[in-house]
Amino acid sequence: MVFLTRKEEEVLKGDYGPANALAMKLLVALGEVFEAERLIKIKSAQVSGISYKNIGDIGLGFIEDLSRMGAKAKAHTTINPAGMDLKRWRELGIGEAFARKQLQIISAFDKMGIETSCTCTPYLTGNKPRRGEHVAWAESSAVVFVNSVLGAKTNREGGPLALASAITGLTPLYGYHLETERKPTHLIKVEMPLSGGLEYSALGYTVGKTSGKCVPFFVGLKKPTLEELKALGAGLAASGSVALAHIDKVTPEGRKISEKEKAHLDKFPIEESDIQETIQRLSTEDKFDLVCLGCPHCSLEELKKAAKLLSGKKVKKRLWLFTSEYVRKLATKLGYVKKIEKTGALVLNDTCMVVSPIEELGVNGVVVNSCKAAHYIPSTCGLPVKLKSFEESIREALI
Ligand code: F3S
Repeated sequence: MVFLTRKEEEVLKGDYGPANALAMKLLVALGEVFEAERLIKIKSAQVSGISYKNIGDIGLGFIEDLSRMGAKAKAHTTINPAGMDLKRWRELGIGEAFARKQLQIISAFDKMGIETSCTCTPYLTGNKPRRGEHVAWAESSAVVFVNSVLGAKTNREGGPLALASAITGLTPLYGYHLETERKPTHLIKVEMPLSGGLEYSALGYTVGKTSGKCVPFFVGLKKPTLEELKALGAGLAASGSVALAHIDKVTPEGRKISEKEKAHLDKFPIEESDIQETIQRLSTEDKFDLVCLGCPHCSLEELKKAAKLLSGKKVKKRLWLFTSEYVRKLATKLGYVKKIEKTGALVLNDTCMVVSPIEELGVNGVVVNSCKAAHYIPSTCGLPVKLKSFEESIREALI
């Protein structure tokens, strides 16, 4: 039985309105399933299940009902990518009916006081929890990043539960909120040097697939960049149910794992051939007419790199780079967006290649540099994919 304070009991009874009562009911039910002792306050929430393509009318109805019932976010809350760029959807060929429904979803979140930033990298746009803080995040790649790289604490929430946490400012105390659950379970010895988002993404995907729900401890990774860390998290989360990983001498908790602890872990070596096999297995087609980068959403550094690689050239195939509105604004100020778009490529925000209806935009095959995108595009868009590095993907768009 989850212990509730008097105030929490009152919320559950409905004394603070029906939206708060419903949100509290969801959290108490979740707490009971996982035998949480009590609820704890969160610093922030991040809600997934935003795209109309994914949630349809049922999801739209649920979010609008909560908004009509007077739900208001108590914690700083951001949301995942939507089904379209909220401003440039016409340019992409998104239909009016789809756009209307998508904008209704965004408007309902806005009325709840939720930041409608629509990104899977909120940690690059101001929703950046500190080490040890409890949060309730739903986007799986961001969950790995926030737990592992930032050292904050979250379970891998479902969209409606993250929304319930946003409304109440609470989450049940269980899972990765507890120190005991954050200990590494597997030691992953990386036997070769890795570089670039694609290789890190494939490493994560390989480990997630073979180890399932675990807390990997990576040994042998040399100073990964922020972009490589976000790619690793997305890979880990896409193929398995990993929510937390430690990296020797890199992540805050990874730096503290003792030799004695290491000695007790199951050990798994990862070789170059494992990485290449993952890339080959996820690449289903050689023909493509769209190149998409930004899964997870591009950082400023990635847009800078794209601007440099594209400088003075013209794209021959559609090239779309997905990012957050926040990063796009910074990149605009620095001149990167102008340089990229001058080539015919687009820098889009609020959405991505998986949650937007690209299958309805005359696309036959997609090049991506992310194992997460390669994992989901065939099932959610029904399109074949080819995996290439960031640099190779840009080159592919130019020929
Ligand atoms: Fe983000 Fe879409 Fe990839 S939400 S992690 S860009 S599938």
